[in-house]
Amino acid sequence: MARTPIVLKDPSRFKDPANLSWERYIALQARERERYLAERATLPADALAYKNVSARYLERAVDQFANNYFSELSATHYIATAAANAPFDELKKCCLFQLADEQRHLEMDTEVWQRAGIPEREWLPAWEAPGTTCRFFRHVLELDDTFEILVKANFVAEGAAGPGTFAVLADGAEARGDLFSAVNHRARVRDETRHISFARALVKALIDEDPVNLDVIQRWQDESLQLFLEVARNGERQEWWEGFLASYYKIALPLGLKRTAVGR
Ligand SMILES: [Fe+2]
Ligand SMILES: [Fe+2]
Repeated sequence: MARTPIVLKDPSRFKDPANLSWERYIALQARERERYLAERATLPADALAYKNVSARYLERAVDQFANNYFSELSATHYIATAAANAPFDELKKCCLFQLADEQRHLEMDTEVWQRAGIPEREWLPAWEAPGTTCRFFRHVLELDDTFEILVKANFVAEGAAGPGTFAVLADGAEARGDLFSAVNHRARVRDETRHISFARALVKALIDEDPVNLDVIQRWQDESLQLFLEVARNGERQEWWEGFLASYYKIALPLGLKRTAVGR
């Protein structure tokens, strides 16, 4: 395993902000699942069979479906690595609970592909095409340092992608008749918010302990945003990109991080 560029000498600086125990987590998961199934049960059969969306919508939605599905699939892998290499138990616990969340999100997104009738052989090529989150997540999947994974994936990527972006995605899907995607986005955002909070607590602990850690975190931020830039597609998705950066900077700037030149 590569030597970690930063350490938290005093792990008591990090506390799970959601204060979850195994018992509380299982109860919360069960409640979330019940709520999700209840919302899904209200959807008309036509909506669940993707009969009320246009062919044009489905054609264009494929890369969004790919970004959703493969980022959740990647998350189940990188967060397992983060858990396995976690330097202390409180952090390992947060990673393991997240692993269960991401597995549930992955199942929701698998069902989208299936109900929309997109053959499995088309899933991966859609994600590997230019302009998707593929390059970013493949980079994260190569990492083995828990702090680096959590800073890049939870703090930067999830911090930027939610909850604002998920609300936009949910509303956009709903407006085009894709009610199932809308329900999924609204369900996942409740978990993603928890993933962002524990990563934020970790970043704060690292900076509080040693201000030098801020430089490493800044570099991880810069590398991550650089890899995300292609998703903005040369200004074609300007509005999305601005919202993405705005939600990230809202949590990052107060901790002392600076804007990445690429996003300006
Ligand atoms: Fe997720
Ligand atoms: Fe997540």
